[in-house]
Amino acid sequence: MLKVAVVGKGGSGKSTLSWLLIQALAHRDQSVLGIDADFNMNLLTNLGLNYGPDLPTIHHAHGEFRQIVDLPVGTPWSKLQDRSLPQFSLNPDDDYTAQLAIDVAKNIRLMVVGLGDEDVLDSPLCGHGHIAPLKWYLSNLDNHNTAVIIDSVAGTDMVNYNLYQGCDAIVCVVENHRNSIRVFQQIQQVADRLGTPFYGVWNRANEAAIPTALSEVCGDRLLGQIPVDPEIESFDYQLLDPQTQRQTALIWEALVARTTTSRSRSLAQAVG
Ligand SMILES: Nc1ncnc2c1ncn2[C@@H]1O[C@H](COP(=O)(O)OP(=O)(O)O)[C@@H](O)[C@H]1O
Ligand SMILES: [Mg+2]
Repeated sequence: MLKVAVVGKGGSGKSTLSWLLIQALAHRDQSVLGIDADFNMNLLTNLGLNYGPDLPTIHHAHGEFRQIVDLPVGTPWSKLQDRSLPQFSLNPDDDYTAQLAIDVAKNIRLMVVGLGDEDVLDSPLCGHGHIAPLKWYLSNLDNHNTAVIIDSVAGTDMVNYNLYQGCDAIVCVVENHRNSIRVFQQIQQVADRLGTPFYGVWNRANEAAIPTALSEVCGDRLLGQIPVDPEIESFDYQLLDPQTQRQTALIWEALVARTTTSRSRSLAQAVG
C-alpha cells in the first residue's frame, strides 16, 4: 500500500487534501495512517483532535528514535545513510509505532511530528533536526496494507531535504494562480532530481476545463481536481458534496494506477 506525501504552497489545500484522502480511504474500509508533519498541525485539528503537551509526538520521542537506530546525540543523521536500520512496521506495530500512532476513528490512525510544539520553537535544533526521525522511519517502514498519507510543511525545503525518500509518491496541491504554479514547478524540479514520482492535484477547481497556465506546467502530472466545497470547513465527510467525494476517490485511483506503472517502468529499466 502506498506512502504518499502531500506538498504545495501554503494555503493551497495540503491539509484539506490529506484529510480528504484519509477519509475517502477509511470510508472504503482501507486502514490509513495520517502523519502530521507541519508546524501548524492542521491535519490533527482537521481530524478532530487537539494538541496538548501530553500528545505523543515524534518530537518528544526523538531520543528514543536515536537509541533505536543507534545514533548517539551529537552524531549527524547523515551517518545513517550507509547503514542498514531496524525495520519499522504497521499492523503488526513495532514498539515505536505503537507508542506514537494515535487512534482517531475506525480505520484511521495519526502520527504527529509535533513541529509546532513550544519546545521545538524554543530549541536550537533546526526543523530538519526535529523531523529527521520521520525521514528514516518512512524509508524503513513496512506499512503492509495500511496507506500512509503525510501532510507537509509548505514549499520545497522538506522535499529538498529528501524527507520523503521512503515515499512512493509526492502529490503537490496546486491552484490556478501563478505563485501556486511556481511552487509546483520548484518542487517538481527537486522531486525529479531525487527520482521520486511527482504528481499534482488541482484544488479549488471551479472551471470545467483545466486552465491553460495550469495545463502547460502540470499537464500530464495532474491526477484530478477538488472543487470548491464550503462543506470542507465542516470536516464531516458525510456532509461533503458528493462531487468532492467522487473526485477524491478518483484522485486516489489515479495515484495508485500511476504509481504502479512508474514502479514497473523502473523495474523494467533495472532489469533491461
Ligand atoms: N476545495 C476547497 N473548498 C473549500 N475550502 C477549501 C478547499 N480547499 C481548501 N479550503 C480551505 O482553505 C483553507 C486552507 O486550506 P489548507 O488545506 O489548510 O491549506 P494548506 O494546508 O495548504 O496550508 C482551509 O480553511 C480549508 O478549509
Ligand atoms: Mg496545512
